[in-house]
Amino acid sequence: IKGITLSVLPILVFKDALFFWLLHAYLFLHNIITNMNRFKLSFSLSVTSSLSKKMLCDVQLIAGSVEVPAHRVVLASCSPYFCAMFTGDMSESKAHQVEIREVDGQTLRKLVDYIYTAEIEVTEDNVQVLLPAASLLQLMDVRQVCCEFLQSQLHPTNCLGIRAFADLHTCTQLLNQAHAYAEQHFTEVVQGEEFLGLTLQQVCSLISSDKLTVSTEEKVFEAMIAWIKHDKPARLEYMPKLMEHVRLPLLSRDYLVQIVEEEALIKNNNTCKDFLIEAMKYHLLPADQRHLIKTDRTRPRTPISIPKVMIVVGGQAPKAIRSVECYDFQEDRWYQVADLPSRRCRAGVVSMAGRVYAVGGFNSSLRERTVDVYDGVRDQWSAVASMQERRSTLGAAVLGDLLYAVGGFNGSIGLSTVEAYNYKTNEWLYVASMNTRRSSVGVGVVDGKLYAVGGYDGASRQCLSTVEEYDPVTDQWCYVADMSTRRSGAGVGVLGGQLYAAGGHDGPLVRKSVEVYDPQTNTWRLVCDMNMCRRNAGVCAINGLLYVIGGDDGSCNLSSVEFYNPATDKWSLIPTNMSNGRSYAGNIT
Ligand SMILES: *[C@@H]1O[C@H](CO)[C@@H](O)[C@H](O)[C@H]1NC(C)=O
Ligand SMILES: *[C@@H]1O[C@H](CO)[C@@H](O)[C@H](O)[C@H]1NC(C)=O
Ligand SMILES: *[C@@H]1O[C@H](CO)[C@@H](O)[C@H](O)[C@H]1NC(C)=O
Ligand SMILES: *[C@@H]1O[C@H](CO)[C@@H](O)[C@H](O)[C@H]1NC(C)=O
Ligand SMILES: *[C@@H]1O[C@H](CO)[C@@H](O)[C@H](O)[C@H]1NC(C)=O
Repeated sequence: IKGITLSVLPILVFKDALFFWLLHAYLFLHNIITNMNRFKLSFSLSVTSSLSKKMLCDVQLIAGSVEVPAHRVVLASCSPYFCAMFTGDMSESKAHQVEIREVDGQTLRKLVDYIYTAEIEVTEDNVQVLLPAASLLQLMDVRQVCCEFLQSQLHPTNCLGIRAFADLHTCTQLLNQAHAYAEQHFTEVVQGEEFLGLTLQQVCSLISSDKLTVSTEEKVFEAMIAWIKHDKPARLEYMPKLMEHVRLPLLSRDYLVQIVEEEALIKNNNTCKDFLIEAMKYHLLPADQRHLIKTDRTRPRTPISIPKVMIVVGGQAPKAIRSVECYDFQEDRWYQVADLPSRRCRAGVVSMAGRVYAVGGFNSSLRERTVDVYDGVRDQWSAVASMQERRSTLGAAVLGDLLYAVGGFNGSIGLSTVEAYNYKTNEWLYVASMNTRRSSVGVGVVDGKLYAVGGYDGASRQCLSTVEEYDPVTDQWCYVADMSTRRSGAGVGVLGGQLYAAGGHDGPLVRKSVEVYDPQTNTWRLVCDMNMCRRNAGVCAINGLLYVIGGDDGSCNLSSVEFYNPATDKWSLIPTNMSNGRSYAGNIT
């Protein structure tokens, strides 16, 4: 995640008072008329080289022990701060040496270099000093790039810190983005240190928001209790104030009785108890009389859904391809983004910490160990650590903070091994192997468990109907209920806490049937068939619908995409097909 380069040429500001200073650049000026680009280039090269030779420098900027020689006219042309300094009545306007107190030496040098070269590198390490310095010197482009950089770094573990930083430096847009990010990732945000360190007023502003994205109101209640317990002596007295914003009536009856009522923090304070009574009353009233309780606490939260796109990575059409397409659900349109660095099909594709990973796969001659990661903000792919084993037609899924690569085919045998990637350490480590070798396996995560569904067992040359469940806590795989039928290359996805297996094949027979697994009851049941037979299709769940993308029907690679609505038990095709048929592509939203 290193670096970002800005390359906008400095814009010259011609002011009457500056015109004479510009005389010595006159030779370049006539080029404006004939050729703007050549002018920019030659001007930029010429001022840069005159800086490096210290030619015609007429001011020394001093910050600490660092001295930076420069030309007033160049500084003033880019920075309103310097323009005011050199054209005003202040002593600096004539002085040969000017001290800049608020900026450290290295940063000042970087910013002056930027003024000459129009290039600056923004990194995790320097962004926190660069942004305030750029603000001071009124280098708005640099400030903007710093904000964009921070926005691209937003993560549940840092968004509250970035929000505070944006607030301090009045970066309004970044502030709003960080705030919205915190609301949208509330469940993960509250597990971090940053949340526990918030002030009362900040916690109130977060948990009172209508736009909080939480699966249940219990998360808000638990977050509040965790915040109080973090510094109980000091925070206990805030309890009633916070309870005002927790929508207790929206908790389930059982939760209210078992957890909330037992919570000592609530039991021991009458004001808090009143909120509990209000919630109980809400549950006791018949549904048509509940509106009689006049309070905001019965209003369900209305999170804004994040605009989502579906990304289709590589695939086989008919050879492995590099192309990556995105589908915009709101505008119903497909568009291309940056190609993969190399051809890839049969890869595992997942999204983790805001980035898309393409794991292993096949490049038409070799099974891959390599992993590429896509950064949507910069629209570029880069490589991260490779797996220990070559794997194509593997299953890939994110569980906790880890990306799991499950089974697959290494070019000679089907694999039962499983390895996990930690993006913080950029390392792959083996975890327990499955009981069965599985290539063309589908995987999904429900309730903290990873499921490996069907596939092909190279050893007994059979498509599989068996399913295994992995528990990361005990690092063990165990069999759960079999599917009703053998499925290799099924599309596996998760919707509403249930695991779907769509299509797939058994030998030459390609299926359109779909079944769904309920971990609570350990049973599979059939649902409506797809419109088309599909195997090796991509799958993703979005907005309560399960999408199955492309694949092949045994004779052709499909460009169509269909989705399942569990409320109506129906499959429908989306109106626009992909630009080409592809199977073995990975998908993710
Ligand atoms: C409950 O907490 C509030 C706020 O700290 C306090 O004013 C009130 O006296 C407490 N009530 C009881 C009964 O402890
Ligand atoms: C479809 O993909 C398969 C591999 O799954 C390939 O062998 C075949 O040639 C492709 N067919 C077409 C029509 O592109
Ligand atoms: C596949 O990868 C190998 C090793 O990186 C390379 O030598 C080969 O040319 C690649 N094949 C294709 C078709 O890109
Ligand atoms: C596949 O894995 C087996 C067992 O680890 C190994 O012997 C074989 O060389 C691997 N094949 C390839 C092509 O890497
Ligand atoms: C999409 O592809 C399917 C076949 O895969 C075809 O029946 C359908 O007409 C196509 N839709 C469009 C809009 O081209």
